Amino acid sequence: MLKTVVCVSGGGTNLQALIDAIGDGTVKGAQIVRVISSSHSAFALERAEKAGIEAVTVSPSDSPDRKTFEERLDKAVSEVCPDLIVLAGYLVVLPEGFVRKYSNRIINIHPSLIPSFCGKGFYGLKVHEEALKRGVRITGATVHFVDSGTDTGPIILQKAVAVQEGDTPEILQKRVMKEAEHVILPRAVELIAEGRVAVEGRRVTVR
Ligand code: GAR
Repeated sequence: MLKTVVCVSGGGTNLQALIDAIGDGTVKGAQIVRVISSSHSAFALERAEKAGIEAVTVSPSDSPDRKTFEERLDKAVSEVCPDLIVLAGYLVVLPEGFVRKYSNRIINIHPSLIPSFCGKGFYGLKVHEEALKRGVRITGATVHFVDSGTDTGPIILQKAVAVQEGDTPEILQKRVMKEAEHVILPRAVELIAEGRVAVEGRRVTVR
């Protein structure tokens, strides 16, 4: 079983998609051993509790300084010895040492087709606002390994979603979540659990 930690900051619909996929057997080889939230008020915490998953909050604002926060985060993760760390709407930049320690074992879901609409400042609704402003016809979502950059790591899976006339950022966000994020995030976890994902440089091979 792939011991998985899921890091969240908000609503937790991606966490829910993973909980559901494990629950109904779509994802067979993984279990969520801990949910870590960066915010006490994240609804994702309630989702974890309802599913009987241990959830803890490690918040930058509870820590006297950044170093203490990083130590607390590292402890919350290392205590459960995870094989995989999933960033599911996690809005904190991870420390470089942490990323190195868990190299090729941290994945992130991003709500666009990377390399479009990604990098510093592109998160959540902002991504969809920018996609609509630019007038793209196709957007989507990406699951990628996390490296030391922002949204620059090796791409595992992507799924395209059509933009429709009259879309608002909120409508587009919902469609991208439902049609892409909630499909490819559980799928990527399952592929990793099956040992079918190999990383060579910046390229990922799915066998
Ligand atoms: C999701 O759309 C996720 O792709 C995005 O935040 C949202 C979290 O929703 N992540 C990023 O923008 C990261 N750059 P959720 O809490 O309902 O899963």
